Amino acid sequence: MSKSIDFATASGIQSPAQTQALLDLVAGEARDSLLAVHETLRRELPQGPLAIYEAGGGSSSFLPVDVLGRSHVTVVDIDEDQIRNNSYAQEAILGDVQTYRFGEGTFDVVICYNVIEHLPDVEAALLNFLHALKRGGMILIGAPNPHSLSGVVTKYSPHWFHVWFYRHIRGIKTAGLPGEAPFPTFFHPLVTLSRLETFTAAHGLEMIYRREVESPRYPEMRQRKPLFAALVDAGAALLNAVLPRGTDVRRGDYHVILRKR
Ligand SMILES: C[S@@+](CC[C@H](N)C(=O)[O-])C[C@H]1O[C@@H](n2cnc3c(N)ncnc32)[C@H](O)[C@@H]1O
Repeated sequence: MSKSIDFATASGIQSPAQTQALLDLVAGEARDSLLAVHETLRRELPQGPLAIYEAGGGSSSFLPVDVLGRSHVTVVDIDEDQIRNNSYAQEAILGDVQTYRFGEGTFDVVICYNVIEHLPDVEAALLNFLHALKRGGMILIGAPNPHSLSGVVTKYSPHWFHVWFYRHIRGIKTAGLPGEAPFPTFFHPLVTLSRLETFTAAHGLEMIYRREVESPRYPEMRQRKPLFAALVDAGAALLNAVLPRGTDVRRGDYHVILRKR
């Protein structure tokens, strides 16, 4: 059962949370790629008001402030606390992106950022996004690479370890409390970029942006915990040396933009 909380009457469309997600990203490949994503969206999106669907939007957005500022944003999230803490969406819906169905061709943009790794049925979610998207509309996905060092560790370690990492290495004291990251991960096969590419091509989507990046956890760790980071960097360098040429196990995340033909 989904409940709808209408924030249209809330004081302002903009809030500091909109820019915080980007500000929180330390300088590095992930931040560079996100800025390139913003440029692509600014260039490719139509002028004027936009309808945006933040799937699993939680309480922060990675979209550019100027795009959000001219948009009606609808967020769907399964976590009641995340919905309550959301201050940037005009409409916040407590629901499951795998089953929540909007009318056909409702949105110009669907953004699903740091979410598909948490879904047991990524295919169902993607088909819902595609259905809800206007022709020429775009889906932005940000997700971890399951074959990277951070991806493999996340996939095969227990949830308590993720909470420990967030609290003690990332320094987020509220990690693991209700409505706070980290959220349980599933790593459905479609989270793998090559499989996602095959799926999207088969469903009439064109990949107009694709970049694998060093996980932002590396520059973050180098700043916060240099000794720990040096150990992880040494382990990653060793793995890169023994794995096939060109492999970089530090490439823990990717960004793609898919356009509906
Ligand atoms: C890591 S957070 C990302 C939040 C936001 N997109 C961001 O990048 O800051 C993952 C979000 O996905 C939500 N989520 C997980 N499974 C979901 C589902 N089946 N349907 C809707 N939201 C879901 C969680 O509640 C959480 O808010």
